[in-house]
Amino acid sequence: MGSDFYNLNYIVMNNLSEAFDKIVNRRRSSRMYDQNYDFDHGIVQKSLERAVLAPNSLNLQLWEFYRVVSEDKKQELAEICLGQKSAATANELVVFVTRGDLWNKRRKQNLTVLEKRFEGRELTKGEKNTLDEYKKLVPFIYFNDIFRITAAIKKFFGFIGGLFQPVPRTVGNSDLRADVHKNIALAAQTFILSVTAEGYDTCAMNGFDGPKVKKFLKLPFGAEVSMVVSVGKAKKEGIYGARYRVPNEEVIFKV
Ligand SMILES: Cc1cc2nc3c(=O)[nH]c(=O)nc-3n(C[C@H](O)[C@H](O)[C@H](O)COP(=O)(O)O)c2cc1C
Repeated sequence: MGSDFYNLNYIVMNNLSEAFDKIVNRRRSSRMYDQNYDFDHGIVQKSLERAVLAPNSLNLQLWEFYRVVSEDKKQELAEICLGQKSAATANELVVFVTRGDLWNKRRKQNLTVLEKRFEGRELTKGEKNTLDEYKKLVPFIYFNDIFRITAAIKKFFGFIGGLFQPVPRTVGNSDLRADVHKNIALAAQTFILSVTAEGYDTCAMNGFDGPKVKKFLKLPFGAEVSMVVSVGKAKKEGIYGARYRVPNEEVIFKV
């Protein structure tokens, strides 16, 4: 893509804004897929490789993506997705899994990359701060014990510190669960828009039995299923009516 992409003229000349507008407007949730369509499974892999480029907190990438492709596994998972037609008729199901438990591993991976990048030279203040984020801030935010004692202590000191200045307060177990789901939702949307750009359709699904999906994928204790996304070529009747959104004035504010 090169540095051209940062040039506004390049964006205009290649109609990127128009293309993005088309993708966003074309995307609809599909509740039924055309099973006779010659589905290109390659676009799922390609779209997941785009999804991992989504922005994410401290670049910790606390996520995993499971492609369910074989017919028998798909049907098994479709049943766990409460028998939804969108799942039962899909060409593939992709399970978006949060891995909050991997924070220390990912912290070390980031640290290794940065230390190598900064090797053999004097660090700028910004670079020192970045290293400190991985050495001190990440453990402060993400370390917790199952009895929630650490979270209570962090919250107490956060409350006191917060009387004098802004402090990070999303440090408890439930805050961190929200954080990993927030991050993976951005990856899911990147995936969904990519599939749309490739001419196929999707449906994000919350309607599933989480513990059963976890068992189906043999996931460890610290993993959590965030979303199942069905993929295929939508049938006309799989798109439920005209799109409805509440008026923009009700949700978009200028402060
Ligand atoms: C997190 C999430 C969970 C969803 N769960 C389901 C679901 O279980 N079943 C379903 O049919 N649609 C599900 N949807 C799709 C929404 O119903 C749909 O996005 C919404 O009605 C707007 O329609 P549109 O996607 O066609 O614009 C879900 C969407 C999201 C983002």
